[in-house]
Amino acid sequence: MSESVLNVNEICKDFGGIRALDDVSLNVRSKEIAALIGPNGAGKTTFFNCITGIYTPTSGDVLVNPKDGSERRVNGMKPNHVTELGMARTFQNIRLFPSMTTLENVMIGTHCRTKSGIWGAISRNGKARGEEQAIIEKSYHLLELVGLERYANELACNLPYGKQRRLEIARAMATDPFLLLLDEPAAGMNPQETYDLQELVIKLRNEYGLSILLIEHDMKMVMSISDSVFVLDYGRLIASGTPKEVSENPTVIKAYLGEDEDD
Ligand SMILES: Nc1ncnc2c1ncn2[C@@H]1O[C@H](COP(=O)(O)OP(=O)(O)O)[C@@H](O)[C@H]1O
Ligand SMILES: [Mg+2]
Repeated sequence: MSESVLNVNEICKDFGGIRALDDVSLNVRSKEIAALIGPNGAGKTTFFNCITGIYTPTSGDVLVNPKDGSERRVNGMKPNHVTELGMARTFQNIRLFPSMTTLENVMIGTHCRTKSGIWGAISRNGKARGEEQAIIEKSYHLLELVGLERYANELACNLPYGKQRRLEIARAMATDPFLLLLDEPAAGMNPQETYDLQELVIKLRNEYGLSILLIEHDMKMVMSISDSVFVLDYGRLIASGTPKEVSENPTVIKAYLGEDEDD
């Protein structure tokens, strides 16, 4: 069994009197594709927000093992520091800069790894110019990775929805993550786009050695690419295991049968 890169121990998250996450523990191993599933409102996005610094868990621990071999406690850390540690994410409702180009959106993602920083970029000294060229090349390469290089100079808002989702992945990759968190990456995609996305996720794991945790409603995708699956229902982890184990679990079947058809 390979080492784990994300260890979440018994986290709770309360919003006023509502407990959105109740004692959730979850483990993602190195180079694993793990899925977090569950009916709408189960707490999946809240879980991502708790492990990426957007929310601080009410209790419990979020521990990660970045590439340097250290173990870091993430709860209470600011989102930009979590990104610097090597955890990158995409959002359920796409958050691109709509009036920037496709390439610029990826370039923004590299920002947390640049040395000259924002002042270098503004003053455009020699060092910053050299760095900017390297950033453009890296960003263009990431667009090739997700198949969007043809759209480099298009405004992000002009890309069709499925391509915007792939652009978010390229931007996340620009931060050099070891752990990629995808919140409903296939939402709004047609079957061909979903299939291409599956291939991309597998490629990111195989060629970049990433660990990936994805929230997804498309069960065909979840079952075909995941090494392990975690199931949330009403803020509680009701099952975890291989795709086969989880899909045969009576509690899971019951939770899903209770959901509306169109969810
Ligand atoms: N900022 C917030 N304030 C209050 N309640 C919230 C907040 N964020 C999420 N919730 C509640 O937490 C529950 C889980 O939501 P969410 O994590 O978005 O579910 P999922 O992503 O599984 O559909 C819902 O009942 C939602 O209304
Ligand atoms: Mg959600």
